[in-house]
Amino acid sequence: MSLEQWTAVDRYINDKMVATDGALDGAQRAAQAAGLPPISVSVAQGKLLQVLAQLHGARKILEIGTLGGYSTIWMARALPDDGRLISLEIDPKHAEVAQASLARAGVADKVEIRLGAAIDTLEKLAAEGAGPFDLVFIDADKQNNPAYFAAAVDLAHVGSLIVVDNVVRNGSVLDTETGDPTTVGSRKVIEMMGTDKRVVPALIQTVGVKGWDGIGFALVVEG
Ligand code: SAH
Ligand code: DHB
Ligand code: MG
Repeated sequence: MSLEQWTAVDRYINDKMVATDGALDGAQRAAQAAGLPPISVSVAQGKLLQVLAQLHGARKILEIGTLGGYSTIWMARALPDDGRLISLEIDPKHAEVAQASLARAGVADKVEIRLGAAIDTLEKLAAEGAGPFDLVFIDADKQNNPAYFAAAVDLAHVGSLIVVDNVVRNGSVLDTETGDPTTVGSRKVIEMMGTDKRVVPALIQTVGVKGWDGIGFALVVEG
């Protein structure tokens, strides 16, 4: 099986059931035009995030890793009128591109992009009492996923859902010998999700336009 086939199936899925629109496609075009890396969630994954937020009735969403705001738009659209999404981003250029795309998508009033290293911003959010968040999407620098997961649980409530992107990465997660910080971070966060008694974990491998990867889920069941 090849990336080409996975991509073709993603295209078929999009064609049959995942409608995008000018704002979503425009956000991808703006990100590309600005030279941002092409690493946003796929169309189908964006839709999954939106459905999860909707299913959950999420009113407060935390995203770690904004990039061009593509996943942000998908999730923000699931929010009620008074809902809020805070998205953390370290790169001012990414934040600027995202801000413009959020405005074009009509969700800028619900979204706040916080600039800075997410570890620091998460600490500030905790100090401010910004939580609890109903949904947390972790999708920034993977080596910090263990710290992000720990902070997410602290900023959650019973019933919150934590979603962690890119936890399989072409199967590299099986490599026990590696010193690659990304892989080490992914292995560690899976172990944390599997052992932390405050959460019920689930994880599925995925294929598609972004290759072979996986998405982890942790339902918070204990404060
Ligand atoms: N969620 C986005 C993709 C995010 S890509 C989407 O699916 O559309 C990862 C983002 O995390 C990049 O924009 C990168 O600049 C940002 N990032 C990397 N390290 C970070 C850090 N330490 N703190 C906050 N953001 C970080
Ligand atoms: C990368 C980051 C992501 O968040 C992603 O979904 C895919 C790739 C990366 O850093 O290569
Ligand atoms: Mg990702």
